[in-house]
Amino acid sequence: MSGFALDWLRLREPLDGRSRATALVADFAAALPERPALLDLGAGTGSTLRQLAPRLGRAAQGWTLLDNDPALLAQAPREIADWAASRGWQVSDPQVLGQPGSDDAGIALRGPDLTLDVETRRFDLTGDPAGLALGRYDGILASALLDLVSAAWVGRFVAALAAAGRPPLLLGLTVDGRVAFTPPLDDDALVLACFHGHMRRDKGFGPALGPAAAATLAGALDQAGYRVALAPSDWCLGAEETAVQRLMIDGYARSAGAQDPAVAGRIGAWAGRRQALLQAGGAALAVGHTDLLALPRRQRC
Ligand SMILES: C[S@@+](CC[C@H](N)C(=O)[O-])C[C@H]1O[C@@H](n2cnc3c(N)ncnc32)[C@H](O)[C@@H]1O
Repeated sequence: MSGFALDWLRLREPLDGRSRATALVADFAAALPERPALLDLGAGTGSTLRQLAPRLGRAAQGWTLLDNDPALLAQAPREIADWAASRGWQVSDPQVLGQPGSDDAGIALRGPDLTLDVETRRFDLTGDPAGLALGRYDGILASALLDLVSAAWVGRFVAALAAAGRPPLLLGLTVDGRVAFTPPLDDDALVLACFHGHMRRDKGFGPALGPAAAATLAGALDQAGYRVALAPSDWCLGAEETAVQRLMIDGYARSAGAQDPAVAGRIGAWAGRRQALLQAGGAALAVGHTDLLALPRRQRC
């Protein structure tokens, strides 16, 4: 397991869906051919497909869901089939792709005005990005992934994109470090400083960019001949999202305490006070995210 729990991915899916920068989705869709082949990096169980496939305005789409977590990838065809079946679509049985015993699977979905051919692909993104074969795809997507990567990885990834002819990119929901609790508490700043320090630890890609990821990637893509647009895709969590807020508070406290055990007592007290405020009602949490769209700049003649 990669450590990204299935329940957490399910909980965040509707929040992500409603938070996305819709103008960037529309501009990404407009750059795609009639029958696009799309690659979703760090796809988990296919949440990005479920959020975006119906919004791309393309009647036939091929999606490759890439991840290194076999448990999430094995779950993806089931989650996608359930989603499609709930819309009354026809769903094929999953087919094993490649060698017998391979983890990779394919599934076909037929709706009244949308046909999706989906395959899963196990791949470790910390490896050589040349292995991604980016040139096979008409568009590259990722959601809630980029905070894990390092500056060195960004350099390798952008070089691979340039070698692949600069396919359009839509990289959504990258946390950008803006966090606002309501009501505020004195130790919010302490907890968030420790939390963001923890976020910058190595997740297998080298020292993680954390909240600096979207801006770093935007600069590198601009240098590589892309036109880049950034837009907020913030989560605004209120009373309806108490369960998510509870998990977020636990997550902030756990990572912050691991980052600086010397202040673990203060962090524990902060978490207790935050959970009590949530229980009493009226607490809110805004979490800043950034969506990034990159389209190839037109060549001058
Ligand atoms: C926060 S989850 C987001 C999942 C999905 N994009 C979504 O929005 O629900 C991050 C995903 O990145 C994947 N991931 C992390 N490190 C990876 C790596 N080295 N190679 C491939 N995938 C990776 C995880 O397995 C997980 O599915």
